[in-house]
Amino acid sequence: MLIHSTDKGFVHPRSSEITPRSAYEGRRDLLKLLASGVAGAALAGWAGREALAGVQAPGKLAALPGAASSVAGANTMEKLTDYKDATSYNNYYEFGTDKGDPVKNAHTLKTRPWTVEVEGLVKKPGKYGIEDLIKLSAQEERIYRLRCVEGWSMVIPWVGYSLAELIKKVEPQGNAKYVEFVTLADPKTMPFVGSRILDWPYTEGLRMDEAMHPLTLLTFGMYGEVLPNQNGAPVRIVVPWKYGFKSAKSIVKIRFVEKEPGTAWNKAAANEYGFYSNVNPEVDHPRWSQATERRIGDGSGLFAKRNKTLMFNGYEAQVGQLYAGMNLKKFY
Ligand code: MTE
Repeated sequence: MLIHSTDKGFVHPRSSEITPRSAYEGRRDLLKLLASGVAGAALAGWAGREALAGVQAPGKLAALPGAASSVAGANTMEKLTDYKDATSYNNYYEFGTDKGDPVKNAHTLKTRPWTVEVEGLVKKPGKYGIEDLIKLSAQEERIYRLRCVEGWSMVIPWVGYSLAELIKKVEPQGNAKYVEFVTLADPKTMPFVGSRILDWPYTEGLRMDEAMHPLTLLTFGMYGEVLPNQNGAPVRIVVPWKYGFKSAKSIVKIRFVEKEPGTAWNKAAANEYGFYSNVNPEVDHPRWSQATERRIGDGSGLFAKRNKTLMFNGYEAQVGQLYAGMNLKKFY
């Protein structure tokens, strides 16, 4: 059940109120008890939610904590998706087309050393080693809904900082109107690069105002740890009001350009996947309705519970003005 669809009425904790990982893990039993009551999750508070039974990371990857974000809309109070579901039901076509392929195959991805090149129409282009990029700004934890174009969704505590922080540092030139994300395409470590499903590398793009929106997250972690390979390690983008395919994984280049860049799924099937791809219950995919969605973990098959899809995935108050006056059926 949806508890709060936006941050309205939700008081963000200050970063000083965030419980360190070790402490909240110790409170797990108490939190389990609290969670069993109706007001449990709310009582336990945002900071302790990762410790609720089933949702926490197993602790095999490096910790990457983030302070609670004060960005409007950055935290939904919906139930978190179990870590296991979020890391074993993935789309990462470089590692296979089945949802279970990335978790099996992505162990070959080599995430260190890793460099992200910032290029194109910026005053300060450059190459960032991943460790420097992680340290460029303070890490925040943001609980976002991720809605896949295929009709399922998850609620994930991501860790990163607003892409705008990086963009401000590199100083885009006046004619930079779009940002393009180029992801790794390494046939040696990615078994499906070379297949004809997509035109590799997988690329994505945003209009500059979308890229600058504080909700657009340059993401390095989830559930208090670094990203697992299958979720796009070591750095991906998460754009919570757009269908999941806009959230490019394992980024190696961020390029500032004047013209709308081509994007992987748009190149593969332009009539099905537009450049904007804002979550919109009123604009159907040509082959299926987008009016409802299934939350991963809420049952499957005929018995799956379906929820109404929210306009802009529930982030309308924060991002609606970016599209004022635009025909969203035309610019799907
Ligand atoms: N990024 C790359 N490089 N390759 C992909 O196949 N799939 C996209 C997106 N980013 C994809 C990608 C799609 S379709 C979705 S729904 C999300 O990643 C899934 O993210 P998740 O596996 O972390 O849930």
